[in-house]
Amino acid sequence: MGIMKVLNSISRRLQVFVAILALFVVAGCDVERRKSDSELGLNPQQAAGRKLYDNYCDRCHEPYSSRGKKGPSMKGVFQRPYLSLSGLPANDERMTDIVKFGRAKMEGFNQTMSDQQIKDLLAYLHTL
Ligand code: HEC
Repeated sequence: MGIMKVLNSISRRLQVFVAILALFVVAGCDVERRKSDSELGLNPQQAAGRKLYDNYCDRCHEPYSSRGKKGPSMKGVFQRPYLSLSGLPANDERMTDIVKFGRAKMEGFNQTMSDQQIKDLLAYLHTL
């Protein structure tokens, strides 16, 4: 085998290796590991709210990404003065109403959650 042939074959292998490595890096960046409650610094009430969020909201609303799911993202929902979709004020009163009675394609949860649970949920939403 000539030296060029050997070099060529090494270089091809290297290209494949680099391509696979790049794929892993790209894929790895996209998969966010779920943080624990303590990593997020949640107090017991906020952690209880997070469980409720996981059960009742997460399938339609992203908590830590601004990507939309079925509904708009909840990332930083209380950090801005108005809700992104409806433009309603982002305060506890509006949020409680939305969670209890729903909006358009979103069901209400007043049959599912107690007032205390909704308070816990809001405590968590304030951490987003
Ligand atoms: C089945 C999917 C679904 C579930 C479950 C759900 N939502 Fe929604 N939500 C939506 C959709 C769709 C909208 C947009 C409604 C509209 O057209 O105004 C929405 C709207 C909202 C809004 C208003 C956003 C804005 O910018 O005006 C808030 C706040 C909200 N949801 C919070 C929650 C919370 C908190 C929970 C959990 C208790 C929850 N949602 C559960 C689908 C869902």
